[in-house]
Amino acid sequence: MIEPLGDFRRTHYCGELSRQNVGQEVALTGWVSRRRDLGGLIFVDLRDRTGIVQVVFHPNPVPDQPGEPGGVTSGDGELSAGNLISEPGQGGEPTYVTSEPREATRAATLDLYQRAGLLRGEYVVAVRGTVQARGEGSRNPRLATGEIEILPREMKILNTAKTPPFYIQEKLEVDETLRLKYRYLDLRRPNMQRNLMLRHRAAKAVRDFLSGEGFLEVETPMLTRSTPEGARDYLVPSRVNPGKFYALPQSPQLFKQLLMVAGMDRYFQITRCFRDEDLRADRQPEFTQIDVEMSFVDQAEILSLVERMISHVFREAAGIEVQAPFPRMTYAEAMDRYGSDKPDLRFGLEIMDFSLILGGTGFKVFRQAVAEGGKVRGIVVPGAGGFSRREIEELAKKIEVFGAQGLAWLALEEETEGRSPNLRSSFARFLSQEELLGLVRAAGLNPGDLLLLVAGPSPVVSSSLGFLRLELGRRLNLVSGGQWRFLWVVEFPLFEYSQEEGRLVAVHHPFTSPLEEDIGRLAEDAQAVRARAYDLVLNGVELGGGSIRIHRRDLQEKIFTTLGLSREEAWEKFGFLLEAFEYGTPPHGGIAFGFDRLVMLLSENSTIRDVIAFPKTARATDLLTEAPSDVSRRQMEELHLATKE
Ligand code: AMO
Repeated sequence: MIEPLGDFRRTHYCGELSRQNVGQEVALTGWVSRRRDLGGLIFVDLRDRTGIVQVVFHPNPVPDQPGEPGGVTSGDGELSAGNLISEPGQGGEPTYVTSEPREATRAATLDLYQRAGLLRGEYVVAVRGTVQARGEGSRNPRLATGEIEILPREMKILNTAKTPPFYIQEKLEVDETLRLKYRYLDLRRPNMQRNLMLRHRAAKAVRDFLSGEGFLEVETPMLTRSTPEGARDYLVPSRVNPGKFYALPQSPQLFKQLLMVAGMDRYFQITRCFRDEDLRADRQPEFTQIDVEMSFVDQAEILSLVERMISHVFREAAGIEVQAPFPRMTYAEAMDRYGSDKPDLRFGLEIMDFSLILGGTGFKVFRQAVAEGGKVRGIVVPGAGGFSRREIEELAKKIEVFGAQGLAWLALEEETEGRSPNLRSSFARFLSQEELLGLVRAAGLNPGDLLLLVAGPSPVVSSSLGFLRLELGRRLNLVSGGQWRFLWVVEFPLFEYSQEEGRLVAVHHPFTSPLEEDIGRLAEDAQAVRARAYDLVLNGVELGGGSIRIHRRDLQEKIFTTLGLSREEAWEKFGFLLEAFEYGTPPHGGIAFGFDRLVMLLSENSTIRDVIAFPKTARATDLLTEAPSDVSRRQMEELHLATKE
């Protein structure tokens, strides 16, 4: 049954055919998406990466009514079904014979029809035939090629297929474990094919744009030393250097800075990075960055270049026009208003400060928080006035992980005719009537609204309310699709205190420059020092981050000292970079984008796994190849490794 491809050559992709092709002879290849036997005809949906087209097999191929919908076009000088004789091995082009005896024609196509009856899902076929318009009643508006169909003259079964473990259809909920195990089948689904095509277009748009701006794409090593991004490294043992390890790069950070020292001036790379960290919907252990570095620039120039690049990519890859320049917000403002350094601006629910109004009231929780230097802050949730006590308690439970001691609330129920709205609250009894009225007025509370309040140290309050804001935005469906809300978050702190390490660590990395006006505070108030660092946020997702780098040795040493790194330690870790910096380093800066995240947002997917051909699970395993896997004792010995029993 299986035939060789021979000299069959495709003329079109399935999904590209339209009314314009009616009457043309086409040669298609693809997979059988569906076969239906209806009213004596066999309908086959043929699928390739561009889409689906319907092929109709007739048992009786030569109708008496030329051009009849669903029938075969025949007539003077035109081709009729079955009179195509393909002559493999004779130089390719088939020959059309117009005077074939009718009986022979019938036999040839009966055979074609019978073979169509053998087709099953995912068989691989090659079809040659004529494009014909579908009749009025048989058009399919849901299919891009729904106005036409193929009347076959020749069909080769190139391969058979086992029954797949799931239907290869666009909108079908399939267990992700199964999808990842059979990823090559999952990738046959039209939406997944679209995702990878979009990814390709986006990568091309990035390359085109940056090349046009004078950037050079330079590759950097995968087997290297530990880089300073702060996650755990993936290590690779060295066979020829017993006991030594390479680290897979968490980013090309140090190399791109070396390329600036090397005078490359403008560098970019679309490259794989590796980080051994806890995985989430937008985090993979290996992911792709668009990495950029430039010499002789300031922050404004980098942000402007990025805005033009993003606008170009959205337009070229997805036909989306975005509004540039993007708004800017300091880190401090983002934390205050949204409780997050990556605010989702597609909805409101902004955080408000009630410390002044509530810090002096009779409610001990509020009073104490403010007295201890903390805050009482909250969000008004329109339309949530009817939330039950249980629903609110569930929310309170969820913010315990951020250190919140509780969730205070006040609900104004919907107004009913002739009755003023009922007020329910967890704390109203501790407040005077005036205080309560003052609060309702300051919050701008309307009937049907719910006010949620958290009291405590400022970081706890911010992260708790930041979480609640997103949770409620989701729950109340406040976010609609098709919105692209970009935001630059600038002036990040240079350092933060790490509980785990018991010392200050760099928020970005130790080569990030402080703001000029904050350098003086390095010694006495390091945590107040702001960085020349910026993140690009889109719809609440951190799309990219970068900074202006330190290029002066004295300042770099000050930063190492503040980080508690001795000169020896710094040289031991980054000696090659510090040495390079002594040979004429230009002022430079850059940024890196999560390319997977960019494509995820462009395609309105909710996980980067859907835009990566072969992603890993949340446990960092590859279900298809079953990596990571055991290795032989010999391999271990060669690498001078032993496992603990
Ligand atoms: P950063 O560590 O912020 O900066 O990384 C840049 C961007 O990469 C994406 N990203 C990830 N995407 C998927 N999975 C992950 N595990 C993951 N981790 C990060 C994010 C992030 O914004 N060298 C610096 C950049 C610079 O300073 O120029 C860097 O790597 O979208």
